Amino acid sequence: EKGGYDHFMLKEIYEQPNAIRDTYRGRLLADQGIIKMAGVDDNIERIAKANRILIVGCGTSWHAGLVAEYAFEDMARIPVEVEYASEFRYRNPVITEDDVVIAISQSGETADTMAAIKLAKEKGAFVFGVCNVVGSSISRETTAGAYTHAGPEIGVASTKAFTTQITVLTLMALKLGKYKGTISDSDFRFHLQALEAIPQKIESLLKSDKIIKEIAETYKDTRNCIYLGRGYNFPVALEGALKLKEISYIHAEGYPAAEMKHGPIALIDEEMPVVVIAVRKGHYEKVVSNIQEIKSRKGKIISLVTEGDTEVKEIADHVIEIPETIESFTPLLTTIPLQLLSYHIAVMLGKNVDQPRNLAKSVTVE
Ligand code: M6R
Repeated sequence: EKGGYDHFMLKEIYEQPNAIRDTYRGRLLADQGIIKMAGVDDNIERIAKANRILIVGCGTSWHAGLVAEYAFEDMARIPVEVEYASEFRYRNPVITEDDVVIAISQSGETADTMAAIKLAKEKGAFVFGVCNVVGSSISRETTAGAYTHAGPEIGVASTKAFTTQITVLTLMALKLGKYKGTISDSDFRFHLQALEAIPQKIESLLKSDKIIKEIAETYKDTRNCIYLGRGYNFPVALEGALKLKEISYIHAEGYPAAEMKHGPIALIDEEMPVVVIAVRKGHYEKVVSNIQEIKSRKGKIISLVTEGDTEVKEIADHVIEIPETIESFTPLLTTIPLQLLSYHIAVMLGKNVDQPRNLAKSVTVE
């Protein structure tokens, strides 16, 4: 049932190109220049006119929400807030009938997310669900929704659920942007084509597994690790760190790269590996100067760069090349090597990759 792979996690990492294709199939119609999503089409007025969009989720789903925040604001010009479901429900949130709440959950059974949905509904908000498991409690509780079509995710560490959540949310942001006229027709079409090309780019990226294994071998005994990214790739830094913590039990922190100088830089010494997402878009030069700051403090730099990059290559200890795409779609690519890195480290350390200690696939307690 693992399809020849040693672990479900690895199988699910490799399934991502097809999981993303399955998620946009029938929705993304690049030739016609349209996006069809029944749950959005049926409620387009309501969603497009929202005062703001509030996104709730936990763990990896919350990270997907953070990526969506950039996309919705960028493409559809709707103000977005992203909240941990658990915090949202316990702090008497200001929420009205003019708000739209998007709840993200792979399993559709997470207790905190479910409680947040109930509260939002009580206050009259329109609640839209993004779930993977068909017929799950959350998918039934929400007013409308869109499924990710990732297929069953067995590994406790979420992988293909994350990239398909980003796919669905990006399609929504684009669709709303088109409806509102906040994205031009030509830009919209350009985005559709670029999104359609993502699975193939992931396929080519999965071939860099050998380099990632070497990096894993070099750093598997570290006790700490820092992940940095900016803009669309800041949530990816958080997600990379979560993956490493969950399955290899190595302490890892994700930060927006520019926050380094406000504290975390004090941690940098020759023992500290720092994973930096430095793709050639979105504040590239700024990230390069962050890399230089780490280098001058003797930190070890593992860098994700755009194919053909030369500047970072000269400074970094290791580089992983990422195929070029539109900035807003880079998380779909940059996430992949970070999943593989944590996977290989966990395997090398002899950890139980698919069922890490203290964790369950769905957290049905509050
Ligand atoms: O099923 P959900 O998406 O609601 O689950 C949310 C989190 O429990 C989940 O993403 C968790 O953080 C994963 N183990 C992350 O890999």
